[in-house]
Parts: sequence; C-alpha cells; structure tokens
Amino acid sequence: MLRFSQSANALRSSAIRELMNMASDPNIITFTGGMPNNTLFPTEEIDEIYNNLPIDVRRDGFQYCPTTGYPPLLNSLKEFLRQKGLPVDNNELIITTGSLQAINLIAKVFIDPGDRVITENPAFIGAISVFKSYQAKLDPVDIDEDGIVLPDLEKMLQIKSPEAKILYITPYFHNPAGIVYSQKRKTELLDMLKGQNIVLLEDDAYGELYFDQKDRELTKPIKTIPRLPVPVCYTTSLSKYLGPGLRLGCLLAPPDIFEKCELAKQSLDACSSTFTQVLAHEFLVQNKISGYLEKLRKVYLRRSQIMLAALQQYMPEQVTWTKPRGGFYIWVKLPEIIDATDILKKSIKSGAVFVIGQTFDPLGKKNNCFRLAFSHTPEDRIEEGIKIIASALKESMIN
Ligand SMILES: Cc1ncc(COP(=O)(O)O)c(C=O)c1O
Repeated sequence: MLRFSQSANALRSSAIRELMNMASDPNIITFTGGMPNNTLFPTEEIDEIYNNLPIDVRRDGFQYCPTTGYPPLLNSLKEFLRQKGLPVDNNELIITTGSLQAINLIAKVFIDPGDRVITENPAFIGAISVFKSYQAKLDPVDIDEDGIVLPDLEKMLQIKSPEAKILYITPYFHNPAGIVYSQKRKTELLDMLKGQNIVLLEDDAYGELYFDQKDRELTKPIKTIPRLPVPVCYTTSLSKYLGPGLRLGCLLAPPDIFEKCELAKQSLDACSSTFTQVLAHEFLVQNKISGYLEKLRKVYLRRSQIMLAALQQYMPEQVTWTKPRGGFYIWVKLPEIIDATDILKKSIKSGAVFVIGQTFDPLGKKNNCFRLAFSHTPEDRIEEGIKIIASALKESMIN
C-alpha cells in the first residue's frame, strides 16, 4: 500500500470538479474561470519585445536566475510598486511563480499542522487549498460590501489557544465576492490588529483593474500605510494583467520573513521562469503596461455592464448581486433555501456554467450563492448565459 503523507491524504477532489467535467462541452457558456479571455493577451507587444532583444539577453532567459528573481525585473517591479506607494526600500521583494506561490511560501514558513489561519468567507479557493495543504485550521470570517466584518474578526482574534498566526485578506476586487474594502474598514482593521501577534497577508491580484479612475484611491494597499501594527506581507501578480501563463507574481515582505521565504523557495523551484521574467521586465520598463491596463479596464467595465444589465433583466426578484467597481467577478446571493448546486445542474443541461458558493467557503458549507466571472466569456454570449441561469433559478423557485 502506498504510504502518502498526512497532508497528501487530506487533499480531496471535490464533487464540483466532477460536475465541471460535464461542462467541458465547447458550446457551453462558461462564467467559471477567473482568467482573462485569450484574445486579450498582449501577443503583438511580446512578439515585438522578443524580436528586439539582444542575443545575450535572450540567452539569459533560458538560464537559471537568482531565487529572489531576475535582477532587472526586481528593479522594474520595484518601480511599479513604488508608484503604488509601496515601501520597497525597507522591505524585500521576491519574485514568485504566481501569487499562489507567494501564499504558499508564507504558509510554508509559518504553518505547522493545527495552526490557525483566519480567512475571509467567501475566500479565494487557491489560498484555501494552500492553507489546508499545510493542515492549518481555517477560521473564516464573513465579509460585507466594505470588507471583513470586524466584530466577527474580533471574536476570532480573542481565541488565544492557540492564537491565529495568519490573517489572509483580498481587499481589492475580491475573488469571489467582487467587493473592494472601504478606507474606513481598512483603518479600523488595523486598529483592531494593534497588539496582536499575527501576520497580515494582503493579496492584491486585481487592484489595477478599477473601472473608474476615481476608485484608484480605494486600491491603495494597506501595506502603504506607515507604522503598521503587525507585519504585513503584500502579494500581487501579473496573471490577471498580462496573463497567467507567465506564472509571475511577487511578495513584498519585511526582511526577516523574506529571508525564510527565499530559503523556502530554493527548495520549491529554485527560481521562477527567467524567460517570462525577461519579457515581463521589458514590458514594464518600456512602459507598455499603462496603455495595456487602460485597455483592459475598458473591456472589463463593458463586460461587467453587459452582465449587470442581463442580471437586472432576467433574474427573479429575490436574487441579489454585487456591483463590481473593478476586477473579474459578480457574486450572486440566492434565497436561503435555494441550493446553488441544484441550479448549476439545471444550468449545465441548458448550456451555462458558473462556480457554486460552497467552493469558496473555507468550511465548505454556505451554498445559497455563486460566482460569475465576466472576464473571459465572449461579450456576445454573456446575456444568453445569464438568461439560462435565471431560467434554472426560476424553475427551482417555482418547484
Ligand atoms: C485573489 C487571488 N489571489 C491569487 C491568485 C493567484 O494567481 P496567480 O498564482 O496566477 O498569480 C488568484 C487567481 O485566481 C486570485 O484570484
């Protein structure tokens, strides 16, 4: 018999994955994956960049690079982060294989089996899986339209045996809930963390994708605030901007945490892809990024508007949803008695698919909700897909 580790034995394929396999039919309208549409990737810009690279730089791309990252990219990324107000001078930056790896590194250097991690509920499924893989005990705290619910968080922080080690939050265009934290909630959160022995992991995968320039201020990371009461580790990613295939993210952390993460990364993959780091560096340093992000903001705004209009037109009255100010997602709430899995089964049969709420509940319970991603569905199919889901819902609500 194979003697897998406890952590491997704890990994489970979910029933939902089986259901999703049924949805692989190319004709089905999918609102599932949190990814850009293939047509949006900057293929021409990358062609131009690669074709103009000197031969020695091209060769560098095929080589290993330092574990912390390809030095030119570290510099250009620092400049990008500095412009967001991030304290790149008294913290250390490490380039990671997507921000999922940054979350993994933090979990790896802090979590022993049974350690407590406080997350939001709902929370990013990738982070839930990471924490579970280290056998953390997850303590989810609900969120509302302004961010994590503070009285509930306070209760979790009061539990001292054991004290929670990590608080993981995604304040900017939340996956899956689509919300952005208000300034007030961020300030009050930091007040509440005073005197706590906890690390705050701030995950900012979508912050640049605000729809209205006026909301830019809302995406200012917590890590930019002076005199933080607890160590704050900030992670961002190029996945939702340039493409997840680059597998590039980064972690900005206080020096003592950075040192451990660097050691942990050495044994994981030695370094992230130098090849994509070379391309990403050129993209940043040639300032191709601002125009490209401008384009993305317009596309995602339009897609979200099409989806919101369709929801408004077809959804039954008792159903509510968030109105995103950026990012990829709309979070739909159903009456308590409705189970999103039933709706999903019906929708798949009629040709549309989404992700049920349970997937994002760290305890796998709440299921009267679901996530719609508007980021990768062709614009001319969004309305039709929403109509299908709304019909499935109406059918369930009548029966
Ligand atoms: C909130 C959040 N964080 C992190 C990630 C991980 O992205 P990547 O590892 O591709 O950088 C995602 C991807 O869906 C996400 O939604």
